[in-house]
Amino acid sequence: MTVELTPGVYWVGVVDWNLRDFHGYQTEAGSTYNAYLIIDEKITLIDTVKKEFVPEMMGRVAAIVPPEKIDYIVSNHVEMDHSGGLPETVARVKPEKIFCSPHGKAGLSRHYKQDWPFVEVKTGDELSLGKRTLTFLETPMLHWPDSMMTYLKEDQILFSSDAFGAHLASSERFDDTFPNFPCEYDHQLKKYYANILMPFGALILQLFDKIAKMGLTLKIVAPDHGLIYRNPDWAFSFYRKWAAFTAEPKALVIYDTMWHSTEMLAEAFIQGLTDAGVEAQLHHLRLTHISDIVTEVLDAGLLLFGSPTLNNGLFPTVGQFLTYLKGLKPRNKAAAAFGSFGWSGQAVGLITQELQAMKLNVVHEGFQVKYIPDPGELAAARKLGEELAKKHLVK
Ligand code: FEO
Repeated sequence: MTVELTPGVYWVGVVDWNLRDFHGYQTEAGSTYNAYLIIDEKITLIDTVKKEFVPEMMGRVAAIVPPEKIDYIVSNHVEMDHSGGLPETVARVKPEKIFCSPHGKAGLSRHYKQDWPFVEVKTGDELSLGKRTLTFLETPMLHWPDSMMTYLKEDQILFSSDAFGAHLASSERFDDTFPNFPCEYDHQLKKYYANILMPFGALILQLFDKIAKMGLTLKIVAPDHGLIYRNPDWAFSFYRKWAAFTAEPKALVIYDTMWHSTEMLAEAFIQGLTDAGVEAQLHHLRLTHISDIVTEVLDAGLLLFGSPTLNNGLFPTVGQFLTYLKGLKPRNKAAAAFGSFGWSGQAVGLITQELQAMKLNVVHEGFQVKYIPDPGELAAARKLGEELAKKHLVK
């Protein structure tokens, strides 16, 4: 069955039902790689799919037009979930031109080392396909230097590359046909934003300004993953909130533990946070995947990190999580460390250093106990949790 966005504009992507890991991001709901075909005097393919799915994409194209009739390819993004299928596609189609950003040309050349007929395009450049016109919009670092979007003027469709995407496999292609939308989809939209786009909030806000300045009216937003939006304002409102790092009255206790002492403290902190009446979540780093924890970090206002000291350092999962989180550049969060130690006790100090390096608002010097916390220490942890929540979350 062909999927038409508007007359003559088709989805020709694929559904990756079995994807469970996307470079370390746990994709429990699979994904899609969306590619689009525009039928006009110049038949144009927008993006491709992962290499192994090219035959499936070609089958969808062939149901509409013989693939050899494609004139132009637009490559919005170099990452291989969208360009991996280019070598095979170019070899078969022999396109007259491949349109991409200047960084796109450099990136595709480094990836595939082919002398393809590239045409570099910049923001505001237009391309006539016959009856229709494409306008290009560079979006560098959303989320690679090469990233760009393509706007189909007459149909008011924005092909938005990774932005507004979500990793979710479904037989449905549109927001308004997805069963019980946004049930589950809003979580996947948030998870995608947190794990891929969190560092780029300022650029997202600039993107909205750029779209407004260019006077682009958007009837449909067609990302490269997940559903196609016929009501794009829904996703835009979430992006505006997340890009501004709006913090909710919500605290996370993120920890690992050796012999349950740090865990006893973590549970005491949760009790204190709950006493303060805020939303509180407990995440054991070997039980909740890091990509799910950063999804919750996105809109949390207070983060408490717990680690035992192991071999004079951090427990490895805590170090791994802090490294991942640091790269995502979280903002507008209060944070503090806690933990149990036996003799040297460096973990709390090391976490605190990392929180400072992330420019989070470190609101306590660190809470630590020797070996197993006693009832007084547990009560103190509970009280501290309540105080921190009241001071930093409850307005
Ligand atoms: Fe979906 Fe940045 O690739």
